[in-house]
Amino acid sequence: MKVLVIGGGAREHTICEAVKRSDAELYSIMKNLNPGIRRIARDFYLHDETDVEKVTEYAVSKNIDLAIVGPEAPEEAGITNALREKGIAVASPSKEAAEIETNKEFMRSLMERHGIIGTLKSRAFSDVREAKKFIEMMDGEVAVKPVGLTGGKGVKVAGDHFRNIEEAVKYAEEVITKKIGGEARVLIEEKAAGEEFTIQAFCDGSTIIPTPAVQDHKRLLPGDDGPNTGGMGSYSDASGLLPFMDRNDYEEAVSILQGIVEAMGREGRDYRGVIYGQFMLTGEGPKVIEINARWGDPEAMNILPLLKADFVDICMAMVEGKLSRKRVGFERKSTVCKYVVPEGYGTNPMADKEIFVDENAIKKEGGQLFYASVNERDGKIYTTRSRSLAVVGIADRIEEAEKICEKCLEHVKGEHIFIRHDIGKKELIQKRIDHIAMLRG
Ligand code: AMP
Ligand code: GLY
Repeated sequence: MKVLVIGGGAREHTICEAVKRSDAELYSIMKNLNPGIRRIARDFYLHDETDVEKVTEYAVSKNIDLAIVGPEAPEEAGITNALREKGIAVASPSKEAAEIETNKEFMRSLMERHGIIGTLKSRAFSDVREAKKFIEMMDGEVAVKPVGLTGGKGVKVAGDHFRNIEEAVKYAEEVITKKIGGEARVLIEEKAAGEEFTIQAFCDGSTIIPTPAVQDHKRLLPGDDGPNTGGMGSYSDASGLLPFMDRNDYEEAVSILQGIVEAMGREGRDYRGVIYGQFMLTGEGPKVIEINARWGDPEAMNILPLLKADFVDICMAMVEGKLSRKRVGFERKSTVCKYVVPEGYGTNPMADKEIFVDENAIKKEGGQLFYASVNERDGKIYTTRSRSLAVVGIADRIEEAEKICEKCLEHVKGEHIFIRHDIGKKELIQKRIDHIAMLRG
């Protein structure tokens, strides 16, 4: 079977490895030359992933049987729809289904329309005076978000990024006037307090199969400080839960995802592909922060290496609506993933700096290496403005997985790189456990 993976990040590198484990013939379209993907792909096309015409042309010319879209931008551009029109199976949502991610206002209104639990009070505005009234009514305890895509970087939250109503209104105005996220519209949401977690699930339009919970770290700096990023690292536990949550929390979150998929179906937006729920575990249970129409990055790297089932087979079951017949198991292992990013990432990243990676040493330590937005030239690896590569440690317990991950990171060198070393460490996890215990009284 010929499988095309669209995207050249670490998430896509993980997906490509899973495709290879299924013994499929791998093809890739990426805008940067990811050395990990290049090495395992039968063929690749270095091109803008959102160019629907060219991507489709390439897929047709290579007789692709199945395509998997990694990032959200090509989904929004309509790549799934275009490939399906050519008779190619795509294990990712259509443009209409992906709106659950690409339009945050749609996501909130869908949940309200169908009475799905776990949403937050929210309203979208094109007029800053109206937005101001709502922010005042919420006492400034809000999150201010562009309605459209910003790569996880456009959200500002009370207490973290602004201190008072005035500053919240100022950012809401900026979102509207600068059309951040592509539209002159801002979403104001009630701020949820708690601990975040991610659940990703395979979905075939009606059945969903959830995967182990993961915790990502969106903030740039140790101790959850600094601006939001695409995610600096993540961990998961062998139990499938996280140290600060219980089985009920997990199941409630899964039932919210199930509710969303059913609601999408009722509205004629058949959802096939991976669905990603970002939740805040609050004193009143899990609340939806965002829904994504794809694997998480980094979260895919915590899950796919543990998958015991045949990945391509599951992808075909999603496409054909046959997930209910599949058994999907995961190794009972804990994982810790840390990203290496260029110094200045999130503000003023040092692009085009060389990184030295000792792949054999990482393998010997027992870790897994996934390349992200780097470029390979003459056998050397250079940073771009985005995240560079990720290392995953896998072991019975989180603590051991974290140690393996750190050992591996010693084999990644560069004068201009940055890593959040606190991810997966005992101290940070204990803080999360204490936080939830406090919220639950
Ligand atoms: P998003 O891109 O929507 O995931 O937002 C980025 C980050 O902002 C999230 O991971 C949360 O940490 C935070 N955030 C977003 N919405 C809210 C909210 N309503 N309440 C509290 N924090 C939020
Ligand atoms: N890790 C966050 C995301 O993939 O959106």
